[in-house]
Amino acid sequence: MTKSSKPIAGTRGTQMERALVLDTVRVTEQAALAASRLVGKGDKIAVDAAGTEAMREVLNDLDIDGTVVIGEGEMDEAPMLYIGERLGGHKKSYAVDIAVDPVEGTTVTSRGLPNGVAVIALAEKGGLVHAPDIYMDKLVVPPPAAGHVSLDWPIEANLKALAMSLERGVEDLLIVVLDRERHQSLIEGIRRAGARVKLIGDGDVIAALAAAVRGTGVHALMGWGGAPEGVLTAAAMKCLGGEIQGRFIAEDDAQRARLAEMGVSETRIYKTDDLAPGEQIVFAATGITDGDLLQGVRRFGGGARTHSIAMGYASRVVRFIDTVHLEEGGARVTVRV
Ligand code: FBP
Repeated sequence: MTKSSKPIAGTRGTQMERALVLDTVRVTEQAALAASRLVGKGDKIAVDAAGTEAMREVLNDLDIDGTVVIGEGEMDEAPMLYIGERLGGHKKSYAVDIAVDPVEGTTVTSRGLPNGVAVIALAEKGGLVHAPDIYMDKLVVPPPAAGHVSLDWPIEANLKALAMSLERGVEDLLIVVLDRERHQSLIEGIRRAGARVKLIGDGDVIAALAAAVRGTGVHALMGWGGAPEGVLTAAAMKCLGGEIQGRFIAEDDAQRARLAEMGVSETRIYKTDDLAPGEQIVFAATGITDGDLLQGVRRFGGGARTHSIAMGYASRVVRFIDTVHLEEGGARVTVRV
């Protein structure tokens, strides 16, 4: 194909992606709007319930025959968006697997702290790995460093490779790590190698996305986080061209047995394509509280404003969406730019 005959981004991609990418962002917008009413109120269960209920309602309105593969837990522990739950409207045109986290960062959201976000990924059947709810050791880097780092290497080697890929010194790198006791030696290792550390309270999905986007000031994510969040991150990395490498961590025999039952290895490094093998992937996230990539929901008299990212892998589009939601029958509101 000659350069001039390349399709314009946004006109390519599958029908499924084109049909669903904007619809999908409605799902995360509604979850974020619902959860935003409870920001800072100190009740993380209520935050999660509000986001989940809103997300489920919109999903049941979409033109999909969807099955939740990453959700709020198994059927007996989650009343909604449980693994295996079927979702979709009447037409059911697109058979999809769905990974959701209606409120990623329930604790930070309930405390009014940064990084609360509503997230979803959709793919054709089999396009997203069914990850158990255990920890995963993660390394996420932006597109220029994809293929140049390894979870098997010492911290210093990865930071050198990352710095070289981003054409800067190691001292210019800012690495995001979840602020947890278990990360003490990782944090010391990053600092010893000369890079800087940004500790976050929660929310490694949106932190990973921020690392994969230029101009956010953060350059990689390292450390243990949830494995289901790793699959959501992989879906986003496919769309953005960044890379996630993850290793499942079994902390006891029960988790080891669960991994074996699911055919998942404890020693292998899973890369972006292993976690999200789909060829048709739609990913959307809406900020609930502010983060490095997305602003949180801003409420005003008569409505609210949301900030989202929505992407399609085959269509090769990354949309940042700034939406003003006016309350039905609400007061007359002047929309600001
Ligand atoms: P929740 O929204 O379920 O609380 O998850 C938030 C989160 O910080 C994830 O972003 C991260 O992957 C995981 O929890 C880390 O788990 P832990 O809090 O056990 O360290």
